[in-house]
Amino acid sequence: TAGGSDAAKRAAGERAAEAVEDGFVVGLGTGSTTAYAIEALGRAVADGLEIRGIPTSFQSRRLALEVGIELTTLDAVETVDLAIDGADQVVDAPDADGHGALIKGGGAAHAREKLVDTAADRFVVVADPSKLAPTLERSVPVEVLPDAHTVIADRVRDLGSEPTLRAAEGKDGPVVTDNGNLVLDCAFGSIEDPDTLATHLSRLPGVVEHGLFVGLADATYVGTADGVDVREY
Ligand code: A5P
Repeated sequence: TAGGSDAAKRAAGERAAEAVEDGFVVGLGTGSTTAYAIEALGRAVADGLEIRGIPTSFQSRRLALEVGIELTTLDAVETVDLAIDGADQVVDAPDADGHGALIKGGGAAHAREKLVDTAADRFVVVADPSKLAPTLERSVPVEVLPDAHTVIADRVRDLGSEPTLRAAEGKDGPVVTDNGNLVLDCAFGSIEDPDTLATHLSRLPGVVEHGLFVGLADATYVGTADGVDVREY
């Protein structure tokens, strides 16, 4: 997704790529920040690094192939050593329970991202400072089976949100995800208890995955104009 400083995104992405060791299976997240990590990994591969990547979207698969990263799939490996992925919002509140909680899915890739990020031994978020916030307050993307979008929209309204069916650009009608589903962007205002909201959303039949990532990230690499700030959780 657009926004934030490219230099900061690049700094974060390239630092995360430095953590990749020979022989690693690497989860390749989606978005403009992770793209810098994938490109850096491509350069390292050209210099002899041997890794296999598991892409989380059409976009990250295409980029990984373009830069020469060998690809694999989650069902073909025993471990994913490291996942590198971006975020739309990251809670930066060291004294609060939700420290390190994320909203993802701005690119509608959060279902496969959550699958791969969760499978990894270590999940590193790459972000620029514009992503940091004291509480989550962006809309939560919810991927739904196409037939379910109206009933889920009603249930999400019951939970206190105003949902919007995400519209496609360059096409009439809705965004269709890489998995053939639709996305409801659900505005809840300030989310004080993301863990409870995550449980409520996961419970709804027809929800494939929502974009709240609570207690999943191991670290966030925040790129800045003059370096990278690392938050370990
Ligand atoms: C994809 O669905 C999202 O979860 C992305 O990881 C997120 O939008 C971050 O993208 P940027 O790095 O482009 O901001």
